[in-house]
Amino acid sequence: MSDRDPGLTGAVRAPLPHDSAEAHVSGGALYADDLAEASDLLHLAFGQSPVAHGTIRAIDLSAVRAAPGVVAVFTAADIPGHNDVSPVAGDDRLFADGEVVCVGQALFVVAATSATAARRAARLATLDIKQRPAFVTIAQAREAGSLIEATQRMARGDADAALERAPHRLTGSLELGGQEHFYLEGQVALATPGEDGQVHILSSTQHPSEVQHLVAEMLEISHADVTVEVRRMGGGFGGKETQPALFAAAAALVAAKTGRPAKIRADRDDDMVMTGKRHDFLISYEVGFDDDGRIEGLRLDLASRCGATTDLSPAINDRAMFHTDNCYWLAAVEIVSHRLKTHTVSNTAFRGFGGPQGMVAIERVIDAVALHLGRDALAVRQVNLYGAGRNVTPYGMTVEDNVAPAIIAELAESGRYAERQVAVAAFNARHRVLKKGLALTPVKFGISFTTTHLNQAGALVHLYTDGSIQLNHGGTEMGQGLHTKVAQIVADVFAVPFDKVRITSTRTDKVPNTSATAASSGADLNGMAAYNAAQTIRERLIAFATRWRQVPEDTVRFAREGVWVGGDLVPFATLCRQAHIGRVSLSSTGYYATPGIEYDRAAHRGRPFYYFAYGAALAEVVIDTLTGEHRVLAVDILHDVGRSLNPAIDLGQIEGGFIQGMGWLTTEEVVYDDAGRLLSHAPSTYKIPTANDRPPRMDVRLWQPGRNVEPTIHRSKAVGEPPFMLAISVLSALTHAVAAARGEAGCPALDAPATPERILAALAR
Ligand code: MTE
Ligand code: MOS
Repeated sequence: MSDRDPGLTGAVRAPLPHDSAEAHVSGGALYADDLAEASDLLHLAFGQSPVAHGTIRAIDLSAVRAAPGVVAVFTAADIPGHNDVSPVAGDDRLFADGEVVCVGQALFVVAATSATAARRAARLATLDIKQRPAFVTIAQAREAGSLIEATQRMARGDADAALERAPHRLTGSLELGGQEHFYLEGQVALATPGEDGQVHILSSTQHPSEVQHLVAEMLEISHADVTVEVRRMGGGFGGKETQPALFAAAAALVAAKTGRPAKIRADRDDDMVMTGKRHDFLISYEVGFDDDGRIEGLRLDLASRCGATTDLSPAINDRAMFHTDNCYWLAAVEIVSHRLKTHTVSNTAFRGFGGPQGMVAIERVIDAVALHLGRDALAVRQVNLYGAGRNVTPYGMTVEDNVAPAIIAELAESGRYAERQVAVAAFNARHRVLKKGLALTPVKFGISFTTTHLNQAGALVHLYTDGSIQLNHGGTEMGQGLHTKVAQIVADVFAVPFDKVRITSTRTDKVPNTSATAASSGADLNGMAAYNAAQTIRERLIAFATRWRQVPEDTVRFAREGVWVGGDLVPFATLCRQAHIGRVSLSSTGYYATPGIEYDRAAHRGRPFYYFAYGAALAEVVIDTLTGEHRVLAVDILHDVGRSLNPAIDLGQIEGGFIQGMGWLTTEEVVYDDAGRLLSHAPSTYKIPTANDRPPRMDVRLWQPGRNVEPTIHRSKAVGEPPFMLAISVLSALTHAVAAARGEAGCPALDAPATPERILAALAR
């Protein structure tokens, strides 16, 4: 293989299947709810608030306690330590205390001998809650000035003056819906009490350390007394970054209070009602531009529904601001971001973490400019791209790795953009009812946690004397293939086959003080930490072999056939055994912290990202102007993963991310009623894409020249979130199809998700 780095020995860059692929489809993969249950296990259910906002006058739990199978009921009054399950701000109660702030908020937990008994009993409480006015929508909260934090502003140049000067000027707005994570495995936690007040928790969490710390503080015990473990999640998508703490804390409280193991697994409706979603946004813009569509001045106003508490909303909305440039140079720009506090469940991380919302905003602006001028939208995108002398983002970071122009050009060529645009126009001229749209949109996504200190990771690698290897690191597996990639990296260090590396559960007692597996940086951070751990052991083995055989160090070489020591081939297992006899430690930790990043949040200035991940997608759609229905006919994707650690997994991430993004922008609709009750709380009312919605033609390719300019692990790039935003091409193509149907200049006011109703509305407006 020509693109193999010198020193790579086979496992890295191989298109290996996910390490659990077979187990996933055969049922052999054990999730938290699949493990054998102890005979004294208690099953839990939450009592929930039926109202969005109110003051608790009294909760009568006598009927709950008296219900069949009920063993115990606990409320806020039973919590020994902090009544808090929040990631940062300290404002998420485990159980409501005095005030309720959203429908579904946990009031108490019932522990019973079966899940059904617990769920039945939880409904028997008599609640006396004095209802207070609730803000459900962004508009209501904005009117009332209800914010989770101060409005933020990011700006460069004089946007007002540039707008004033520009030859053309447009204003517009866009509503962008939220999104339910719909991980297949719901939230689950199993807490088992140990000796001396300790507790072990199996949790479906992307952030074991946070669950550990919150549980310890809730129980008023030390962090060292709580162990959190996760082997795998059945999907997380950001929905298990902070939300699992509620479930884990409830289970831990019951275990601590009763001395019995306790499990809670939310059923689908409860999971959808009780856990946060992607933030929906209201976006408005004012843009000034020249005859070629070159943006001269831009003012963007972003307003998002954060829900009842802070959760991760500050960072999520920051990331929205960070991505309003996407791949484009904005000389004079002002971005204002309002973070609205509503009486709905607190919204949270979701693949892209606000980035997609910001990116949709600028892509809509570009479509509006193109449709206003009657110019090709790709041409307008291209005149606005970052380039020489115009390569600094609105937050002051220089774009040093700008491969967007090359990727866009290659995709336009391979996807025959120009030819197909002509064919689409011809189709639209021939058809009255059906109208097609074609759009090519790029992605540039910043990689790193914007909270700088989170960019660190640890790993623990053990070699056994038979040459087998156990790998542990701080990252969690949620289907994205992180464990496979990290195991490939470790196998490669020793030049052993991939299956010599035993992947183990993520545990807070093995690798402590970890960050969430999030921000797409799981492989970047944990891969490098595990690489460093393995390298430490490898160097010890080399030093030992040199002493053992009395040969120069440079004659020791790890190869697939074994270890060459001064011309002799020694089986890897023999070297491990001999090193152990020679009293060499075969175990090591490893650590990594991303270099070179810093960010001043007060000024919204700095280098928050280590590098950018890029891609582009070309989508062709057709709409039915009588019904508002649409189909995505064909999608071509070219995506940059740097030098891929595992092309099979990377392709899977790109395809899955695209489809999930397409669902967000087309069919998935989060709906609350006026009283703040979630109406779309089950698959019957919430429509995620199915296998049938996969575009009939989908051509996904990794961008071949890809190589990270930064020295990331084997020069790879993060892939988890960026492809989600490739789906913006679908919304853009739909916008162009609607514009074609309207047959007049200007951009249709097509909101997202582009359901049939919204497409019809945009046709009529
Ligand atoms: N892929 C699968 N199959 N399941 C998931 O839950 N989560 C996404 C992405 N890809 C997810 C996924 C999100 S939100 C992130 S941040 C990254 O994976 C996290 O993993 P990584 O950092 O290892 O890429
Ligand atoms: Mo992903 S939204 O960073 O968990």
